[in-house]
Amino acid sequence: MTITSARERLDGLWRRGLEFLGTDVAIMGGAMSWISERHLVSAISNAGGFGVIAAGSMDPDRLATEIAATQELTARPFGVNLITMHPQLDRLIDVCGELQVGHIVLAGGLPPTTAIKRAKDTGAKVICFAPALVAAKKLVRSGADALVIEGTEAGGHIGPVATGVLAQEILPAMAALVPVFVAGGLGRGEAIVSYLEMGAVGAQLGTRFVCATECVAHQNFKKAFIRAAARDAVPTVQVDPAFPVIPVRALANEGSRRFVEFQHEVIRRFRAGELENKEAQLEIEHFWAGALRRAVIDGDVETGSVMAGQSVGMVTREQPCAEILTELVDQAVTALAGRLPTPALPVS
Ligand SMILES: Cc1cc2nc3c(=O)[nH]c(=O)nc-3n(C[C@H](O)[C@H](O)[C@H](O)COP(=O)(O)O)c2cc1C
Repeated sequence: MTITSARERLDGLWRRGLEFLGTDVAIMGGAMSWISERHLVSAISNAGGFGVIAAGSMDPDRLATEIAATQELTARPFGVNLITMHPQLDRLIDVCGELQVGHIVLAGGLPPTTAIKRAKDTGAKVICFAPALVAAKKLVRSGADALVIEGTEAGGHIGPVATGVLAQEILPAMAALVPVFVAGGLGRGEAIVSYLEMGAVGAQLGTRFVCATECVAHQNFKKAFIRAAARDAVPTVQVDPAFPVIPVRALANEGSRRFVEFQHEVIRRFRAGELENKEAQLEIEHFWAGALRRAVIDGDVETGSVMAGQSVGMVTREQPCAEILTELVDQAVTALAGRLPTPALPVS
Protein backbone atom coordinates (compact mmCIF):
# COMPACT_ATOMS: atom_id res chain seq x y z
CA MET A 1 0.00 0.00 0.00
CA THR A 2 1.37 3.47 -0.83
CA ILE A 3 1.69 6.13 1.89
CA THR A 4 -1.13 8.12 0.27
CA SER A 5 -3.51 5.20 0.22
CA ALA A 6 -2.44 4.25 3.77
CA ARG A 7 -3.40 7.76 4.94
CA GLU A 8 -6.75 7.41 3.13
CA ARG A 9 -7.21 4.03 4.83
CA LEU A 10 -6.49 5.64 8.24
CA ASP A 11 -9.00 8.40 7.54
CA GLY A 12 -11.51 5.71 6.55
CA LEU A 13 -10.86 3.70 9.71
CA TRP A 14 -11.40 6.64 12.07
CA ARG A 15 -13.91 8.60 9.95
CA ARG A 16 -16.71 8.23 12.53
CA GLY A 17 -14.32 9.49 15.18
CA LEU A 18 -13.35 12.51 13.06
CA GLU A 19 -17.01 13.32 12.42
CA PHE A 20 -17.98 12.84 16.06
CA LEU A 21 -15.19 15.07 17.38
CA GLY A 22 -15.03 17.50 14.45
CA THR A 23 -11.24 17.13 14.21
CA ASP A 24 -8.51 16.22 11.69
CA VAL A 25 -7.15 13.42 13.89
CA ALA A 26 -9.36 11.15 16.03
CA ILE A 27 -7.09 11.37 19.05
CA MET A 28 -8.39 12.80 22.32
CA GLY A 29 -6.01 14.23 24.89
CA GLY A 30 -7.44 12.54 27.99
CA ALA A 31 -8.32 15.03 30.73
CA MET A 32 -5.72 15.13 33.50
CA SER A 33 -6.48 17.08 36.68
CA TRP A 34 -4.22 20.15 37.14
CA ILE A 35 -2.61 19.39 33.75
CA SER A 36 -5.39 19.66 31.19
CA GLU A 37 -6.05 23.37 31.37
CA ARG A 38 -6.30 26.04 28.67
CA HIS A 39 -2.73 25.74 27.34
CA LEU A 40 -2.50 21.99 26.79
CA VAL A 41 -6.14 21.68 25.70
CA SER A 42 -5.93 24.44 23.09
CA ALA A 43 -2.54 23.17 21.85
CA ILE A 44 -3.93 19.66 21.26
CA SER A 45 -7.00 21.05 19.50
CA ASN A 46 -5.01 23.53 17.42
CA ALA A 47 -2.76 20.64 16.32
CA GLY A 48 -5.80 18.80 14.94
CA GLY A 49 -6.58 16.56 17.92
CA PHE A 50 -9.22 16.93 20.61
CA GLY A 51 -8.22 18.59 23.88
CA VAL A 52 -10.31 18.00 27.01
CA ILE A 53 -10.36 20.30 30.05
CA ALA A 54 -10.14 18.41 33.37
CA ALA A 55 -12.71 20.01 35.64
CA GLY A 56 -12.10 17.55 38.49
CA SER A 57 -10.60 20.13 40.84
CA MET A 58 -12.61 23.16 39.64
CA ASP A 59 -15.67 24.94 40.99
CA PRO A 60 -18.22 26.33 38.50
CA ASP A 61 -16.68 29.83 38.32
CA ARG A 62 -13.20 28.44 37.78
CA LEU A 63 -14.51 26.13 35.06
CA ALA A 64 -16.29 29.01 33.32
CA THR A 65 -13.05 31.02 33.32
CA GLU A 66 -11.07 28.07 31.96
CA ILE A 67 -13.56 27.33 29.17
CA ALA A 68 -13.67 30.99 28.11
CA ALA A 69 -9.86 31.21 28.15
CA THR A 70 -9.58 28.04 26.06
CA GLN A 71 -12.10 29.43 23.57
CA GLU A 72 -9.83 32.48 23.25
CA LEU A 73 -6.88 30.23 22.40
CA THR A 74 -8.57 27.91 19.91
CA ALA A 75 -11.47 28.00 17.49
CA ARG A 76 -11.25 24.19 17.15
CA PRO A 77 -13.46 21.73 19.07
CA PHE A 78 -12.53 20.70 22.60
CA GLY A 79 -14.38 19.01 25.46
CA VAL A 80 -14.83 19.24 29.22
CA ASN A 81 -14.37 16.28 31.55
CA LEU A 82 -16.57 16.35 34.66
CA ILE A 83 -16.19 13.99 37.59
CA THR A 84 -19.58 12.41 38.29
CA MET A 85 -19.29 12.56 42.09
CA HIS A 86 -18.44 16.30 42.11
CA PRO A 87 -20.85 17.91 44.60
CA GLN A 88 -21.68 20.66 42.08
CA LEU A 89 -22.03 18.39 39.04
CA ASP A 90 -25.35 19.91 37.89
CA ARG A 91 -23.98 23.43 38.04
CA LEU A 92 -20.81 22.39 36.19
CA ILE A 93 -22.98 20.88 33.44
CA ASP A 94 -24.96 24.13 33.25
CA VAL A 95 -21.71 26.11 32.89
CA CYS A 96 -20.75 23.90 29.93
CA GLY A 97 -24.17 24.61 28.42
CA GLU A 98 -23.93 28.39 28.98
CA LEU A 99 -20.56 28.45 27.23
CA GLN A 100 -21.73 26.08 24.46
CA VAL A 101 -19.18 23.36 25.05
CA GLY A 102 -19.64 20.83 22.25
CA HIS A 103 -18.63 17.65 24.12
CA ILE A 104 -18.99 16.71 27.78
CA VAL A 105 -17.10 13.71 29.15
CA LEU A 106 -18.62 12.19 32.31
CA ALA A 107 -15.91 10.37 34.26
CA GLY A 108 -15.22 8.91 37.70
CA GLY A 109 -17.87 6.24 38.18
CA LEU A 110 -20.99 5.41 36.23
CA PRO A 111 -22.94 8.65 35.65
CA PRO A 112 -26.63 8.59 36.58
CA THR A 113 -29.10 8.80 33.69
CA THR A 114 -30.21 12.20 34.99
CA ALA A 115 -26.68 13.61 34.58
CA ILE A 116 -26.40 12.22 31.05
CA LYS A 117 -29.77 13.76 30.19
CA ARG A 118 -28.87 17.12 31.71
CA ALA A 119 -25.60 17.16 29.76
CA LYS A 120 -27.36 16.23 26.51
CA ASP A 121 -30.00 18.90 27.10
CA THR A 122 -27.25 21.54 26.89
CA GLY A 123 -26.82 20.48 23.25
CA ALA A 124 -23.48 18.80 23.92
CA LYS A 125 -22.49 15.31 22.80
CA VAL A 126 -21.94 13.14 25.86
CA ILE A 127 -19.04 10.72 26.21
CA CYS A 128 -18.93 8.19 29.06
CA PHE A 129 -16.34 5.71 30.34
CA ALA A 130 -17.40 2.06 30.06
CA PRO A 131 -15.45 -0.21 32.42
CA ALA A 132 -17.27 -3.40 31.28
CA LEU A 133 -19.70 -4.60 28.61
CA VAL A 134 -22.79 -4.46 30.86
CA ALA A 135 -21.92 -0.89 31.80
CA ALA A 136 -21.38 0.00 28.13
CA LYS A 137 -24.86 -1.27 27.24
CA LYS A 138 -26.44 0.56 30.17
CA LEU A 139 -24.69 3.83 29.29
CA VAL A 140 -25.89 3.67 25.69
CA ARG A 141 -29.45 2.93 26.87
CA SER A 142 -29.13 5.98 29.14
CA GLY A 143 -28.23 8.16 26.17
CA ALA A 144 -24.41 8.24 26.00
CA ASP A 145 -23.42 9.39 22.51
CA ALA A 146 -19.97 7.77 22.62
CA LEU A 147 -17.88 5.59 24.92
CA VAL A 148 -14.28 5.48 26.07
CA ILE A 149 -12.96 2.10 27.15
CA GLU A 150 -9.89 2.52 29.32
CA GLY A 151 -7.65 -0.36 30.34
CA THR A 152 -5.68 -0.80 33.52
CA GLU A 153 -2.45 0.29 31.80
CA ALA A 154 -3.67 3.92 31.96
CA GLY A 155 -2.41 6.62 34.28
CA GLY A 156 -4.64 7.94 37.08
CA HIS A 157 -7.68 6.06 38.46
CA ILE A 158 -7.85 2.62 36.92
CA GLY A 159 -10.02 -0.45 36.59
CA PRO A 160 -8.71 -3.99 36.78
CA VAL A 161 -8.98 -5.09 33.13
CA ALA A 162 -6.38 -4.62 30.37
CA THR A 163 -7.10 -2.48 27.32
CA GLY A 164 -6.76 -5.44 24.94
CA VAL A 165 -9.32 -7.49 26.85
CA LEU A 166 -11.83 -4.62 27.18
CA ALA A 167 -11.46 -3.98 23.45
CA GLN A 168 -12.18 -7.61 22.60
CA GLU A 169 -15.21 -7.70 24.91
CA ILE A 170 -16.73 -4.34 24.13
CA LEU A 171 -15.87 -3.41 20.53
CA PRO A 172 -17.65 -6.31 18.76
CA ALA A 173 -20.84 -5.64 20.73
CA MET A 174 -20.87 -1.83 20.83
CA ALA A 175 -18.94 -0.47 17.83
CA ALA A 176 -21.99 -0.54 15.56
CA LEU A 177 -24.15 1.31 18.11
CA VAL A 178 -21.99 4.29 19.15
CA PRO A 179 -18.45 5.56 18.47
CA VAL A 180 -16.01 3.87 20.86
CA PHE A 181 -12.60 5.37 21.72
CA VAL A 182 -9.85 3.21 23.25
CA ALA A 183 -7.51 4.39 26.04
CA GLY A 184 -4.85 3.01 28.33
CA GLY A 185 -1.26 2.19 27.47
CA LEU A 186 -1.29 3.75 24.01
CA GLY A 187 2.01 5.36 23.09
CA ARG A 188 2.42 4.67 19.40
CA GLY A 189 0.37 4.85 16.21
CA GLU A 190 0.70 1.14 15.39
CA ALA A 191 -1.27 0.26 18.54
CA ILE A 192 -3.93 2.83 17.71
CA VAL A 193 -4.34 1.27 14.24
CA SER A 194 -4.82 -2.18 15.72
CA TYR A 195 -7.78 -0.97 17.80
CA LEU A 196 -9.24 0.95 14.84
CA GLU A 197 -9.12 -2.28 12.87
CA MET A 198 -11.09 -3.93 15.69
CA GLY A 199 -13.85 -1.31 15.35
CA ALA A 200 -12.74 1.61 17.53
CA VAL A 201 -13.17 5.07 15.99
CA GLY A 202 -10.27 6.75 17.77
CA ALA A 203 -8.01 6.79 20.80
CA GLN A 204 -7.57 8.73 24.02
CA LEU A 205 -4.06 9.33 25.36
CA GLY A 206 -3.06 11.04 28.60
CA THR A 207 0.47 10.05 29.64
CA ARG A 208 1.92 10.80 26.19
CA PHE A 209 0.82 14.48 26.45
CA VAL A 210 2.27 15.25 29.90
CA CYS A 211 5.65 16.21 28.44
CA ALA A 212 4.15 18.40 25.73
CA THR A 213 5.98 21.72 25.52
CA GLU A 214 2.64 23.47 26.03
CA CYS A 215 1.83 21.48 29.20
CA VAL A 216 2.07 23.53 32.42
CA ALA A 217 3.22 20.61 34.59
CA HIS A 218 6.29 21.37 36.73
CA GLN A 219 9.66 20.46 35.15
CA ASN A 220 10.24 17.92 37.96
CA PHE A 221 7.02 16.17 36.95
CA LYS A 222 8.07 16.09 33.29
CA LYS A 223 11.61 14.90 34.17
CA ALA A 224 10.16 12.06 36.24
CA PHE A 225 8.16 10.97 33.17
CA ILE A 226 11.18 11.17 30.88
CA ARG A 227 13.28 9.06 33.29
CA ALA A 228 10.61 6.43 34.01
CA ALA A 229 10.14 3.01 32.43
CA ALA A 230 6.80 1.20 31.99
CA ARG A 231 7.41 -0.92 35.12
CA ASP A 232 7.75 2.20 37.31
CA ALA A 233 4.07 3.11 36.77
CA VAL A 234 2.33 0.89 39.30
CA PRO A 235 -1.13 0.70 40.94
CA THR A 236 -1.54 1.82 44.55
CA VAL A 237 -0.89 -0.97 47.01
CA GLN A 238 -3.77 -2.00 49.28
CA VAL A 239 -2.58 -3.81 52.39
CA ASP A 240 -5.93 -5.06 53.73
CA PRO A 241 -9.10 -5.78 51.70
CA ALA A 242 -11.12 -4.69 54.75
CA PHE A 243 -9.80 -1.17 54.08
CA PRO A 244 -10.19 -0.74 50.32
CA VAL A 245 -7.99 1.68 48.42
CA ILE A 246 -9.07 3.29 45.15
CA PRO A 247 -6.49 2.03 42.66
CA VAL A 248 -4.46 4.76 40.97
CA ARG A 249 -1.53 4.12 38.61
CA ALA A 250 1.40 6.39 39.43
CA LEU A 251 5.20 6.33 39.47
CA ALA A 252 6.50 4.51 42.56
CA ASN A 253 8.14 7.04 44.90
CA GLU A 254 8.66 7.89 48.57
CA GLY A 255 4.94 8.80 48.81
CA SER A 256 3.79 5.37 47.64
CA ARG A 257 6.24 3.66 50.04
CA ARG A 258 4.97 5.83 52.93
CA PHE A 259 1.38 5.02 51.98
CA VAL A 260 2.00 1.31 52.63
CA GLU A 261 3.53 2.06 56.07
CA PHE A 262 0.68 4.50 56.78
CA GLN A 263 -1.97 1.87 56.05
CA HIS A 264 -0.20 -0.65 58.32
CA GLU A 265 -0.08 1.96 61.10
CA VAL A 266 -3.78 2.94 60.72
CA ILE A 267 -4.84 -0.71 60.70
CA ARG A 268 -2.69 -1.38 63.81
CA ARG A 269 -4.47 1.53 65.59
CA PHE A 270 -7.86 0.16 64.46
CA ARG A 271 -7.00 -3.32 65.81
CA ALA A 272 -5.79 -1.74 69.08
CA GLY A 273 -9.23 -0.09 69.42
CA GLU A 274 -7.82 3.44 69.00
CA LEU A 275 -9.87 4.10 65.83
CA GLU A 276 -13.35 3.20 64.61
CA ASN A 277 -13.56 1.34 61.29
CA LYS A 278 -14.96 4.44 59.53
CA GLU A 279 -12.26 6.72 60.94
CA ALA A 280 -9.54 4.33 59.80
CA GLN A 281 -11.00 4.17 56.29
CA LEU A 282 -11.23 7.97 56.12
CA GLU A 283 -7.62 8.40 57.25
CA ILE A 284 -6.52 6.04 54.48
CA GLU A 285 -8.64 7.85 51.89
CA HIS A 286 -7.28 11.25 52.94
CA PHE A 287 -3.63 10.24 52.64
CA TRP A 288 -3.41 11.33 49.00
CA ALA A 289 -5.55 14.52 49.31
CA GLY A 290 -3.81 17.28 47.39
CA ALA A 291 -1.00 14.93 46.33
CA LEU A 292 -1.49 15.26 42.55
CA ARG A 293 -1.47 19.04 42.76
CA ARG A 294 1.68 18.92 44.89
CA ALA A 295 3.45 16.86 42.22
CA VAL A 296 2.11 18.61 39.10
CA ILE A 297 2.18 22.23 40.27
CA ASP A 298 4.74 22.35 43.11
CA GLY A 299 7.06 19.73 41.58
CA ASP A 300 7.16 17.52 44.68
CA VAL A 301 7.65 14.23 42.85
CA GLU A 302 8.98 12.50 45.99
CA THR A 303 5.89 12.59 48.19
CA GLY A 304 3.30 13.83 45.67
CA SER A 305 1.26 11.58 43.37
CA VAL A 306 2.99 11.25 39.99
CA MET A 307 0.07 9.66 38.16
CA ALA A 308 1.35 8.02 34.98
CA GLY A 309 0.38 5.18 32.69
CA GLN A 310 2.57 2.31 31.54
CA SER A 311 3.16 4.15 28.25
CA VAL A 312 5.41 6.49 30.28
CA GLY A 313 8.38 4.48 28.97
CA MET A 314 7.58 5.84 25.50
CA VAL A 315 7.84 9.44 26.72
CA THR A 316 11.45 10.32 26.00
CA ARG A 317 11.57 14.11 25.64
CA GLU A 318 9.57 17.32 25.73
CA GLN A 319 7.82 17.87 22.38
CA PRO A 320 5.15 20.23 21.04
CA CYS A 321 1.64 18.70 20.79
CA ALA A 322 1.73 19.05 17.01
CA GLU A 323 4.88 16.90 16.88
CA ILE A 324 3.37 14.25 19.17
CA LEU A 325 0.26 13.99 17.00
CA THR A 326 2.27 13.94 13.76
CA GLU A 327 4.43 11.14 15.16
CA LEU A 328 1.39 9.07 16.11
CA VAL A 329 -0.25 9.60 12.71
CA ASP A 330 3.00 8.80 10.84
CA GLN A 331 3.40 5.57 12.82
CA ALA A 332 -0.21 4.64 12.08
CA VAL A 333 0.19 5.37 8.36
CA THR A 334 3.49 3.45 8.13
CA ALA A 335 1.90 0.47 9.86
CA LEU A 336 -0.99 0.49 7.40
CA ALA A 337 1.33 0.96 4.42
CA GLY A 338 3.08 -2.25 5.47
CA ARG A 339 -0.17 -4.25 5.33
CA LEU A 340 -0.76 -6.41 2.28
CA PRO A 341 -3.58 -5.17 0.05
CA THR A 342 -6.84 -6.86 1.08
CA PRO A 343 -7.50 -9.74 -1.33
CA ALA A 344 -10.97 -9.86 -2.85
CA LEU A 345 -13.12 -12.48 -1.11
CA PRO A 346 -14.13 -15.36 -3.39
CA VAL A 347 -17.77 -15.14 -4.46
CA SER A 348 -19.56 -18.26 -3.27
C1 LIG B 1 -1.66 12.66 35.64
C2 LIG B 1 -2.99 12.11 35.18
C3 LIG B 1 -4.16 12.68 35.65
C4 LIG B 1 -5.42 12.20 35.21
N1 LIG B 1 -6.55 12.81 35.64
C5 LIG B 1 -7.76 12.41 35.13
C6 LIG B 1 -8.95 13.11 35.48
O1 LIG B 1 -8.93 14.09 36.22
N2 LIG B 1 -10.13 12.66 34.94
C7 LIG B 1 -10.18 11.58 34.09
O2 LIG B 1 -11.27 11.21 33.63
N3 LIG B 1 -9.05 10.91 33.74
C8 LIG B 1 -7.86 11.31 34.22
N4 LIG B 1 -6.71 10.68 33.81
C9 LIG B 1 -6.81 9.63 32.75
C10 LIG B 1 -6.61 10.26 31.35
O3 LIG B 1 -7.66 11.13 31.01
C11 LIG B 1 -6.52 9.22 30.24
O4 LIG B 1 -7.74 8.53 30.08
C12 LIG B 1 -5.42 8.20 30.48
O5 LIG B 1 -4.24 8.89 30.81
C13 LIG B 1 -5.21 7.34 29.24
O6 LIG B 1 -4.25 6.36 29.46
P1 LIG B 1 -2.67 6.61 29.25
O7 LIG B 1 -2.22 7.32 30.48
O8 LIG B 1 -2.13 5.22 29.18
O9 LIG B 1 -2.48 7.40 27.99
C14 LIG B 1 -5.46 11.12 34.28
C15 LIG B 1 -4.25 10.54 33.82
C16 LIG B 1 -3.04 11.01 34.24
C17 LIG B 1 -1.77 10.40 33.70
